[in-house]
Amino acid sequence: MDKIQIIGGSKLQGEVTISGAKNAALPLIASSILVNGKINFTNVPDLMDIRSIRLLLEDLGAECNVLSPGCLEVDGSAIHKIEAQYDLVRKMRASILVLGPLVAKFGHAKVSMPGGCAIGARPVNMHLAGLEALGATISIEHGYIEAKADRLIGNEIYFDMPTVTGTENLMMATTLAKGKSILRNAAREPEIVALAQALNQMGAKIEGAGTAIITVEGVDKLHPADIKIIPDRIETGTFMVAAAATEGDVLIKGCEPDHIGGIISKLKATGALVETFKESIRVKGSRTVKSIDIKTLPYPGFPTDMQAQFMTLMTIANGNSMIHESVFENRFIHANELLRMGADISITNGNLASIRGVKELQAAPVMASDLRASASLVIAGLIAKGTTLISRVYHMDRGYEAIEKKLSLLGADIKRIT
Ligand code: EPU
Repeated sequence: MDKIQIIGGSKLQGEVTISGAKNAALPLIASSILVNGKINFTNVPDLMDIRSIRLLLEDLGAECNVLSPGCLEVDGSAIHKIEAQYDLVRKMRASILVLGPLVAKFGHAKVSMPGGCAIGARPVNMHLAGLEALGATISIEHGYIEAKADRLIGNEIYFDMPTVTGTENLMMATTLAKGKSILRNAAREPEIVALAQALNQMGAKIEGAGTAIITVEGVDKLHPADIKIIPDRIETGTFMVAAAATEGDVLIKGCEPDHIGGIISKLKATGALVETFKESIRVKGSRTVKSIDIKTLPYPGFPTDMQAQFMTLMTIANGNSMIHESVFENRFIHANELLRMGADISITNGNLASIRGVKELQAAPVMASDLRASASLVIAGLIAKGTTLISRVYHMDRGYEAIEKKLSLLGADIKRIT
């Protein structure tokens, strides 16, 4: 299994270009199921999760071709299978995104129930309740969710809390339902807006995406379109924190500053200089990192996907900080690895971290537990004294395109050991 070796101490300097957003690309690729014809996706990141959704669609019968780097053509016309198998779904929870499109298009879907996850229980009850509200009959047997409906019928759906993939699944399903649907307390992430815009390009009638109330007027069919994936806001934030933590000076290009207001505000509060331009951001770290408090929330609140990276920054802050993780119940596993590197962190009730800044981190062998935890350990390795060896980097490969190459170009001493 690959490992990442980092010799800490280099200040990141130079320019880096952000890739397309994993969490925007996944629902968009799943939406190909709704369409008869070839959809051309551009700015698709080269990631393990993208390969997983591609394999899943191919298994259903879709034709997927990489036309050039970042350019993926998906033709869902030949889909003949409605079953997403355990072996494919267990590799990536976001596979649940095929459920809504399959039942909307074929009136029948069978998707392996996503299992446990390192960061929390992550149930899919709201996805299922939404489909039931649209008239689908749902059963769960032998580890599979089965949804059936002659044709979905538009209805009002209320989410108990904003769910990103739940909103995406229901937005895709209601697109082909008969009549009007209203999704209330919907998630408002930029990835939801990107999906709504793409579906509208394909002929859907969706209004309100980006607000808590989304209205969908069902249509009989969708047509192909050319879709460009938006920049990855979490990759952007990760490079911003890496620049600040190493007291570097980095121009982050090809990003969307409007999508990361919370990250920008919080990073500025730590003392970093953050300048925003139309599609780029410059971050210049300061010698002293100020301690700040953070609470993760659904968008436009501070993203849970940036919590681990900010925790690493706070380990070397001047003072004490509190991080309250309110989205997932078990997303502090990286804290134990940071402790091994000399950080001073204590956790209360599983979701409240108290971090007392230390002078420096020390390199150590550490283990990644999930995607964003792996990013926090990479940042820790960049600032720690000595050589850090991170294992289980397959978590990182799910969501960061060529991260070690991008960091090397910024002057980091980082390499992959295979
Ligand atoms: N929830 C339920 N029932 C449901 C659905 C969600 O109780 O039916 C709960 C979850 O357990 C969680 C909260 O609602 O406590 C919010 O979860 P959400 O459904 O929004 O998360 P998700 O859609 O499974 C997406 C991203 C995650 C990101 C979260 C939160 C994708 C493919 N995944 O997950 O990304 O952390 O939203 O922003 O979009 C990552 O990229 O590393 C990642 C984990």
